[in-house]
Amino acid sequence: MKNIDANGHVRGESLFIDDILTKQHCLYAAVLASDVAHAKDVVIDIQRAEKFPGVEKILLAKDITGQNQVGGILLDEPLLCEDEIHFQGMPMAVIVAQSDFIAKQARQLIEVSYTQLPVITTAKEAFEKGEFINAARSFTLGDTDVAFRECKYVVEDDTFSNGQEHLYLETQGAYAEKMENGCIKLMSSTQGPTVVQRIAARILGLSMHKIEVDVTRLGGGFGGKEDQATPWACMAALATHILHKPVKLILDRHDDLKMTGKRHPYESHFKIGLDENFKIKAFDVQFLQNSGAAADLSPAIAERTLFHATNSYYIPNVKTTVHSCKTNLPPNTAFRGFGGPQGMFVIESAIAKAAEQLNIPAWKIQQANLLSEHDTFSYGQIAKKVEAQNVWKQLNNKIDIDAVDKSIQQFNQASQQFKKGMAVMPICFGISFTNTPMNHARALVHIYQDGSVGISTGAVEMGQSVNTKMLQVAAETFSIDPELIKLETTNTTRVANTSPTAASATADLNGKALLKACTALLDRLKHVAAEELSVGVDTLEINNGWVEVNGEKTELDWKNLVFKTFWKRICLTENAHYATPIIKFDKSKEKGHPFAYHVYGAALIQTTVDCLRGTYEIDSIDIVHDFGKSMNKGVDLGQVEGALAQGIGWMTMEEVAYNEEGRLLSNTLSTYKIPDVFSIAKDIKVEALETDGHDMAIFKSKAVGEPPLMYGIGAYFAISNAMKAFNPNYQSKYHSPMTPEKVMMVLYGKE
Ligand code: MTE
Ligand code: HPA
Ligand code: MOS
Repeated sequence: MKNIDANGHVRGESLFIDDILTKQHCLYAAVLASDVAHAKDVVIDIQRAEKFPGVEKILLAKDITGQNQVGGILLDEPLLCEDEIHFQGMPMAVIVAQSDFIAKQARQLIEVSYTQLPVITTAKEAFEKGEFINAARSFTLGDTDVAFRECKYVVEDDTFSNGQEHLYLETQGAYAEKMENGCIKLMSSTQGPTVVQRIAARILGLSMHKIEVDVTRLGGGFGGKEDQATPWACMAALATHILHKPVKLILDRHDDLKMTGKRHPYESHFKIGLDENFKIKAFDVQFLQNSGAAADLSPAIAERTLFHATNSYYIPNVKTTVHSCKTNLPPNTAFRGFGGPQGMFVIESAIAKAAEQLNIPAWKIQQANLLSEHDTFSYGQIAKKVEAQNVWKQLNNKIDIDAVDKSIQQFNQASQQFKKGMAVMPICFGISFTNTPMNHARALVHIYQDGSVGISTGAVEMGQSVNTKMLQVAAETFSIDPELIKLETTNTTRVANTSPTAASATADLNGKALLKACTALLDRLKHVAAEELSVGVDTLEINNGWVEVNGEKTELDWKNLVFKTFWKRICLTENAHYATPIIKFDKSKEKGHPFAYHVYGAALIQTTVDCLRGTYEIDSIDIVHDFGKSMNKGVDLGQVEGALAQGIGWMTMEEVAYNEEGRLLSNTLSTYKIPDVFSIAKDIKVEALETDGHDMAIFKSKAVGEPPLMYGIGAYFAISNAMKAFNPNYQSKYHSPMTPEKVMMVLYGKE
């Protein structure tokens, strides 16, 4: 099935927040953000700004009718600054005016005074000063102390992976309307409608039932709208609550870049030990996560870093520790992979370092340590239906890894200016929210009396095509024309208490709930058909919109059957709930079975570096990916390619830069470069792993949203390897992204 949004998107007919037709007397809000990163004794003077013609009101912390608190995991983040500033970009005031232009003009008239305090921008500095978000966490397996003593080879080093800007095409925004009885309706560009509902209720001092959140779709989220869509919706809600008029608040790109958090930069230290057969026997890491000025989702992201610290390898002795370090940057947040990529970059760096020491290609160490059936992960889960070796084998069949390696060596011997490099990047990503209680979802299905169908779930469409997958679930279960089915908006009054659309688990969780609802309705319809046709229910199927008995088409079609069912006063609505079975995790022991299943894959990446210019090109990427049994090949391929591009961007060219004062330097698209069509591989081939799929996945079609991002890590190592061919003295610093500037300096020994 084609993406059901394809036509609307291409024609510009799809609706985003800024396309909503606002009601009469709509007001527009702009946010004043702090210009310094750390200060106390803050005084905000709005006198001049308030008098600016067209300004209706300027909201400050004191105007908040409920609690000034937007924190989720920890209650440590005010919506609006009270007397302390913790990061540059911290919201201080909301200017509500008759137009966006007026609001922004008035914003410039607000005067802020404060006493500046010292600023911390790096995780290391925060670590040294003892500034943490919460207590550190550690996973252990076996005994690393003993194991390291027995290892033949032990290497250690530091690594750094930088942040990443989400750069969703649609910036953060919300539109709020006051309804009767003091209720508020919010349209929000959020991955978490229930998060927005819960926090807006807290900010306004209302119960959740007075707040309705509606989401049509997002112009991208990538994790940046799991928690960080909430403040703007709360501000719009507060303004509506106080002024009784509709309010629209949309951040322009500049404000969005400045005020929102990004992927977490990590500074880490690893130690890895191998035996004479290149088997990794021990692995020890300390991760320093740069969390920013408040918790946001950092503790959960830190946890996922630990879950993925050994990627798709079996290591019998592991000790991993993560510290969420509190700095004066905007609170960093979820980003595709949710801390997993940061963990995997470190193990891949460790393997690369060991390979350098042993003078063998890294892929030989990777291959020797891939997970096998029944291996234990450091968090206690026993690996089942493991595909780590299968994806590797299939990749090697498709493109002979050793032969590629040899031909690259040959090329490099013959070529002066251009050097080639290759790397293999295996992945293993756990599917389920690591926080077990979040793994449930609901769906509501109405069959209308004319046979058409309306579907509501908790899934948010953000470009990943989850709505298309939901439509497929209903169309296939009922076996009717997809044209009869409509995906409704995601709305908290139709489907309540939803988990955010995240963790790549949305199609599984909501799809399984939807499957249950549709199956229950189908069963009801079949009973009516059996009665109408005087046959046993078991003899009967609905196929392509017609009732069949023992495989023979009857006179009774879907529409008639639906109408007869309605006429018999039988309910044509069903609400179903799904909670992932089996999963559990005991945080007191840091052991359990947190994931429904794992997604595997392997990529071979080849690059060419121009050693005169420091530029590089990705020549080709060959991937074998574990889709399970894909329910929509076009959509899933799109997810692999999109995630891959995003991963390559993170590893090679996207450079988030803050200065020592905590000011974002990469605050425009001219200073923050994302991959374009020229920076992506010229030749990308994605092959599906041959497998039956997994029962815990919807229609056996495995989650696909995040895992392929991590193939991008291979680009870093492929470029590094090419550079080593030019400059044999190059000692890798495991410091990403590998920008062309950095390549230039490394090639000529300047870094
Ligand atoms: N694809 C598009 N086009 N836009 C997005 O914002 N978000 C990614 C991924 N793919 C995203 C995307 C992230 S971070 C996640 S967690 C998953 O989609 C969430 O959707 P799913 O659970 O339906 O896979
Ligand atoms: N992934 C994404 N988002 C989340 C998770 C997770 O594991 N846990 C809580 N929010
Ligand atoms: Mo995705 S980072 O779980 O929104």
